[in-house]
Amino acid sequence: MSINPVSKAEMNQSIEVRNITFAYEGEKGSVLAVDNVSFAVTDSEFLCILGPSGCGKTTILNMLAGFLRPTKGEILISGKPVVGGGQDRGVVFQDFAQLFPWRTARRNVEFGLEMHGVSEAERRETASRFLRLVKLDKFADSFPHQLSGGMQQRVAIARALAYNPAVLLMDEPFAALDAMTRDEMQKQLIEVWQETKKTVVYVTHNVAEAVYLADQILVLAAHPGTVKAQLRLDLPRPRDVLSAEFVAAQRELLGHLQH
Ligand SMILES: Nc1ncnc2c1ncn2[C@@H]1O[C@H](COP(=O)(O)OP(=O)(O)O)[C@@H](O)[C@H]1O
Ligand SMILES: [Mg+2]
Repeated sequence: MSINPVSKAEMNQSIEVRNITFAYEGEKGSVLAVDNVSFAVTDSEFLCILGPSGCGKTTILNMLAGFLRPTKGEILISGKPVVGGGQDRGVVFQDFAQLFPWRTARRNVEFGLEMHGVSEAERRETASRFLRLVKLDKFADSFPHQLSGGMQQRVAIARALAYNPAVLLMDEPFAALDAMTRDEMQKQLIEVWQETKKTVVYVTHNVAEAVYLADQILVLAAHPGTVKAQLRLDLPRPRDVLSAEFVAAQRELLGHLQH
C-alpha cells in the first residue's frame, strides 16, 4: 500500500497549522470558508492540498502567506507565528499576470532582492542562478509578453526562490497551462524541489497532479472547508504515471475525495 495515514508526532516541523478557521465577512453576513483545519509539514517535504473548487484551498494558502489572518487558530513557520507576509515564504499564483510586465525575466527575479538592498552584482548572479535552475537562462532579457505561459510560471518560481525562502507556497500554478506543458512543468518542479530542498505547499484540484508531486496530501471537503483525510504517499521518484502503483494511488485518493 503506497497511501498511509499521517502519524501525529512527526519531527522537524517547518509548518504547523493549528485549528485554523476563516470566515469572509460580506454584505449578506459571514461565509465560513475554512473550518478547523490542522496539519504539519516537515522540512523539505512536499505537501499537496487537494480538494474541489470552493473548499478553501486559496484561503488556506493566503493565510500561510500572511495575506489573510485566521479568524481562529494559529500558523507557525519554523516555530514562529505568522503575522503578515515575510521573506521566509515565496508565493507563486495561478495567474500569468503575477509578473511585472515592464520588467525582463531577470529583473522580475531580481525584484525581491532589490527591495532588500542587495547589490547589483549579487542580484545579477542570484537571478542568473535561478533562471538557470528553471531552464530560462537564455531568456533572461525577455519580457513576460515574449514568453509562453509555462515560461512565465517558471520565472515566477525563480522569483519566489531567489530570496531563499524556507517555504514555497504555490496556488494551482500550472492549472492554466495545456496538459503537455503541465506535465513537463511538474517534472521540472520536482527537479527544482529536489535541488533546493524547500518545504512546498502546493494547492491543486487535480488528483493525478497530487499523486505525481506529493509526499503528503491533505484532502479537503467543501462548504465549509474541512479536512477529510491526511495521507502520506510513499511512491518512489521519479514517479511513473503509467505504473500500476500510480494508478492505484489515484483510485484510492479519488475514493477519499468522494466519501
Ligand atoms: N473575498 C471573498 N468574499 C467572500 N467569500 C469568499 C471570498 N473568497 C472566497 N470566498 C468563499 O470562500 C470559499 C473558499 O474559497 P477559496 O479559498 O477561493 O476556495 P478554492 O481555492 O478551494 O477554490 C468559497 O465558498 C468562496 O466562495
Ligand atoms: Mg483557489
